[in-house]
Amino acid sequence: MPTNKVPVATRKRLLRAARKVARNAYAPFSKFRVGAAILTTKGEVFVGCNVENSSYGMTNCAERTAIFSAVAKSGPELEIQAVAVVNDQGTACSPCGACRQVIYEFGPRAIIFYEGEKGPKQSLITDLLPEGFRLQ
Ligand code: THU
Repeated sequence: MPTNKVPVATRKRLLRAARKVARNAYAPFSKFRVGAAILTTKGEVFVGCNVENSSYGMTNCAERTAIFSAVAKSGPELEIQAVAVVNDQGTACSPCGACRQVIYEFGPRAIIFYEGEKGPKQSLITDLLPEGFRLQ
């Protein structure tokens, strides 16, 4: 599998876009605003924020909002090259299990930029989700 290299400027662009869209989050229950930006292999960027619900389980994370928006805009052929995730608390926040599975579906080689326990971190989706499931 080829190494997934993302230029520093691109990473910064994604993080900036994620920070901006986090302001649109609907998070009245957790008060934890999250923003995500995805980069496709074609160079397009799509963003998303978390959208909570009074029925808590209906909440949609920022990462999935971004991916579903991308599919709605560009169709399902896209491949995710990179994902950036930020939150407004500056706390550690890697994609949840559900989002890892959704990222893997559209980006089996994706690299994820997120806030780790000791500061900014990057991981391949295959390290965050070993043996991810995909129907071929
Ligand atoms: N959340 C995300 O949007 N992305 C993550 O990676 C982790 C958690 C949201 C879901 C919920 O609205 C809030 O953060 C607290 O869990």
